[in-house]
Amino acid sequence: MTEEQQNAAVMISLSHLRIYDENDSPLVFDTSLSLHQGERLGIVGESGSGKSLTLRAIAGILPKGLHCGGQLSFPSPSGNSRLAMIFQEPATSLNPTMRMGDFVARTWRVHHPDDSKSESWEKASVLLRRVGVDHTEERMMSWPFELSGGLRQRFMIAAALATEPDVLLCDEPTTALDVRVQAQIIELLSTIVRDEGLSLIFVSHDLAVISQICDSLIVMRQGHVLETGRTVSVIRHPKTAYTRELLDADLDYRLSNMVDSTERGV
Ligand SMILES: Nc1ncnc2c1ncn2[C@@H]1O[C@H](COP(=O)(O)OP(=O)(O)OP(=O)(O)O)[C@@H](O)[C@H]1O
Ligand SMILES: [Mg+2]
Repeated sequence: MTEEQQNAAVMISLSHLRIYDENDSPLVFDTSLSLHQGERLGIVGESGSGKSLTLRAIAGILPKGLHCGGQLSFPSPSGNSRLAMIFQEPATSLNPTMRMGDFVARTWRVHHPDDSKSESWEKASVLLRRVGVDHTEERMMSWPFELSGGLRQRFMIAAALATEPDVLLCDEPTTALDVRVQAQIIELLSTIVRDEGLSLIFVSHDLAVISQICDSLIVMRQGHVLETGRTVSVIRHPKTAYTRELLDADLDYRLSNMVDSTERGV
């Protein structure tokens, strides 16, 4: 977080979040975070560390049966930060019988009920061009299964923008994509967050991905926060052996990718 961001308004303040399953066993222990306007905060950790549950608690969409304690507030200047969430696999959150264009246009219309169907379709096409969907009209007529994972994710980002959010919550939005497309989507999210003045919480198990987009981060493991700090400081001077392991894992992953690409002659 830069000094400027530190002085910026707090968009989300979460204190002492605890999440329990239906038998009251704790899944997330004592998570606190604050997100400032314009900040990009990463939550990183291995599978099962509580990243998604933390994000869902913030969005108010915990899975059925789970309950939580702690304090959550949105002390932004407007008093009601608008949140939009983007998930890992767009296919599962898309209606297979709805054209992709309708998905974005309908999302627009829910938030702008005075706009007609054709106005909403037009707004959707403007948003889709902004997120880099070319042959826009043709793509808008497609069904979800006809598009690549990367394109589907661009439609999800357009739908998120249709809600005119202040904060984007992303849960592994690039994990299901190959490395090249992953880099394009990260670049797109970075640009949008910057140009629209949004704030971002980005969840990933991949520290290398987080470090490309986030200026600060939280490392979680088994429901606990292990360390927090500016991304560059955490990467340069990890405080825990676990963070060092995450860094090593990323290095191994990068190296194996480099070897793969060299072998493929890329
Ligand atoms: N609906 C649920 N009911 C019971 N336990 C759950 C439920 N959802 C998640 N958990 C448990 O809570 C813990 C944290 O889950 P969470 O989904 O937040 O992990 P995560 O860090 O997002 O992992 P991943 O990287 O695999 O997505 C895990 O032990 C998981 O098994
Ligand atoms: Mg998860």
